[in-house]
Amino acid sequence: MKNIYKITLLSLFSVGLLNSCGGVPEEKTTASGVEKAFSVAEVLEMVAKENDVTRTLYTKAIVGKGKKQGMKFDEDWRKDDVEAGPLPALFLRGVASSIRKSPVPLGLYLGSDFPINAANKFEGKQATLFKKIKEDRKPQFFYDEDQKLHTAMFVDVASAGACVSCHNDHPQTSKTDWKLGDPMGATTWQYPKDSLSYKETIALLGSYAQGTVDIYKEYLAEIKEFKKSDKPVIGDKWPADGNYLPTAEVFLDSVKKLTSYQTMKYLVAKK
Ligand code: HEC
Repeated sequence: MKNIYKITLLSLFSVGLLNSCGGVPEEKTTASGVEKAFSVAEVLEMVAKENDVTRTLYTKAIVGKGKKQGMKFDEDWRKDDVEAGPLPALFLRGVASSIRKSPVPLGLYLGSDFPINAANKFEGKQATLFKKIKEDRKPQFFYDEDQKLHTAMFVDVASAGACVSCHNDHPQTSKTDWKLGDPMGATTWQYPKDSLSYKETIALLGSYAQGTVDIYKEYLAEIKEFKKSDKPVIGDKWPADGNYLPTAEVFLDSVKKLTSYQTMKYLVAKK
């Protein structure tokens, strides 16, 4: 059953399917002679969609369901005396720091106007644009002159009950009446160039996916060190079934199953 989903974007590219199907999107050639396939806005939109799915899956299927099984998720999850997994925001930060270590120059940041962590408060242009995002929930794109980076912001919605209850009850929260469906913040993505080739696009999506695997594996590695006797069993089952956690491969497989079709549709539909 699972195998039908295993046709990932990467394998599609490696077998050259997209390049041989005639209707390939037209490539723009830049002054440098390098083939450019996508605008930076299009690529950041693709990766933001993948991130939405990953984030919701992690929040609902791991954190939400895991808590019901007695699993703990904590800000201090990396500390030796804390036997817990990363909160969704820290999962995202883990992805961002893994991407930073990769050769792909992609920046990722999660901010808000009412943050738990004051360091996550939007400032300047991003604060202004976030006001717009809250009204119409549409992405915002701009060129950050100071940093010389193309910047895209996408709404981060309270998509699970766990987002709302945890934020409202948090001792450091700056807002206690979040509701399901509220725009709680935005993910900000940055990239230095205004367009990307296929290769660069695939490298960027791959770097994001690798980031999710890296942080998830760090979580599984922490569990190995837990002293408690009822540690979750790591395999092909999910917390919805009991005291289980999926392996990194099973987790990534689900993310791919939920995202690759949409991303692929986008990649092939462009003209
Ligand atoms: C179990 C608790 C918990 C859950 C569940 C949770 N968060 Fe958070 N969230 C936090 C904490 C704690 C921070 C601050 C982390 C840090 O130090 O940067 C945070 C950070 C954030 C930020 C950055 C601004 C800020 O508040 O610092 C946003 C936006 C955010 N979360 C949205 C969400 C959304 C949307 C969900 C559900 C998909 C969610 N959170 C689920 C605890 C939680």
